[in-house]
Amino acid sequence: MAMIGTGREIRPNDRERAQDAGTDGEGTPPPAFRANLKCIECDAEYDLYQVIYRCRACDGLLTVAHDPRPIRAKGAQAWKDLFTSRTGDYRHPNGSGIWSRREWVLPEIQDEHIVSHGEGNTPLSHLPALASELGLSNLWIKQCGVSHTGSFKDLGMTVLVSHVKSLIARGVGIRAVACASSGDTSAALAAYAAAAGVPTIVFLPAGKISTAQLLQPLSSGAHVLSLDTDFDGCMRIVKDLTQNDDSIYLANSMNPLRIEGQKTVSIELCQQLGWELPDWVIIPGGNLGNVYALGQGFHLLKEAGIISKAPRICVAQAAAANPLYLSYQTGFREYKAVAAGETLASAIRIGDPVSYPRAVKTLREFDGIVRQASESELASAAARVDRHGMFNDPHTGVALACMFQMVEAGEIEAGQSAAVISTAHGLKFVEFKTAYHEARLDMSDFSHRNEPVPLPADAAAVGETLNRLLG
Ligand SMILES: Cc1ncc(COP(=O)(O)O)c(C=O)c1O
Ligand SMILES: [Zn+2]
Repeated sequence: MAMIGTGREIRPNDRERAQDAGTDGEGTPPPAFRANLKCIECDAEYDLYQVIYRCRACDGLLTVAHDPRPIRAKGAQAWKDLFTSRTGDYRHPNGSGIWSRREWVLPEIQDEHIVSHGEGNTPLSHLPALASELGLSNLWIKQCGVSHTGSFKDLGMTVLVSHVKSLIARGVGIRAVACASSGDTSAALAAYAAAAGVPTIVFLPAGKISTAQLLQPLSSGAHVLSLDTDFDGCMRIVKDLTQNDDSIYLANSMNPLRIEGQKTVSIELCQQLGWELPDWVIIPGGNLGNVYALGQGFHLLKEAGIISKAPRICVAQAAAANPLYLSYQTGFREYKAVAAGETLASAIRIGDPVSYPRAVKTLREFDGIVRQASESELASAAARVDRHGMFNDPHTGVALACMFQMVEAGEIEAGQSAAVISTAHGLKFVEFKTAYHEARLDMSDFSHRNEPVPLPADAAAVGETLNRLLG
């Protein structure tokens, strides 16, 4: 596939780069790593350094398209060796799991523009006991929430904010960055933009996010605008604002720069599994940028020759906010936004996901499915897997509940392997965890509930109680 050719608003030196690229395999060096913005609908291309969020020709969503030729030319073993050698190198920027793979992210970024809080390189927890209980060969949880602001949003924000820094250095007039958020996006944006010295505006749905999520952007000094609406209402406002004012830069995942960082989760997962991937990956979906990011990572791994077969993907939605699930039931022939209802998984309470077309593309490419989980299913699943040493947030609970359904239905077959993408840290959602263990949720089965044992500070009483508890 020609990377350059639809020829719209490309930088002047593209012609030379394209000519270089044409010499691939003829003994001359392969072209430099480079990327453009590209429309996912009509393939129109735009310079990466333009401030543009949708295709000017057809209004389609954009993606960052990497020239595959130098990626292929380097060869699988050389990529594996390079990424392995950078892992564990704590120096800037290799200490970041995103920038240690920078050729696949923003190949032309200058180190001085990189704003990093050491994101990525998150743990991959192996759950052999649960896998064997379920009849799976292996089960992993990719802990994307073990990160600076406690969610996977850090992966994308380091890229977006670093890109903003390089835009400002090129003289682009950016007064502030802005996002609508169901809690985690604003926490990450505020932390990275504060480090870059860029003012931040966040639009939050009043009363619909956790206390920790509200405190995070406040602490970073962001302008926090708490609107009497839901996430979708906030999204409409920020789209409007950034369309009408070029000096305010849109930081939602409609902006494909975010996806570039988020896709490193696929590369990391592959590297952590010895350059292999599981049969299934299950990921919670809200605005649906992250599932597309997952797919983009698999594409590059294939392009580099590192994998020949990608996993199947399941997007897990909360039943209260399930527009993708409903559309999947029609074979994606119909799509209707829904009014997202109340859910414990508040960060995926999204009724009109911006990245719906991206998600459909990814699900078609990776033989994907969509499942939904009820409130009691998600709470029980989170608590059940906590008993294996996790501390699951409710969104991971949605993905785990769908994984349990898939095992039950035989969709994940006996002997297969699966990885669940955990998107946030449970410590951001202590209200949810507390309500479960105090049996204050609207459900009847609290099998995994645990409570403190009140005792006098008395050795005999402690001994007696321990004998009872330990049997
Ligand atoms: C914790 C958490 N999980 C999952 C998601 C869903 O990701 P996406 O909106 O990219 O589908 C979000 C954000 O929306 C989130 O904050
Ligand atoms: Zn287009």
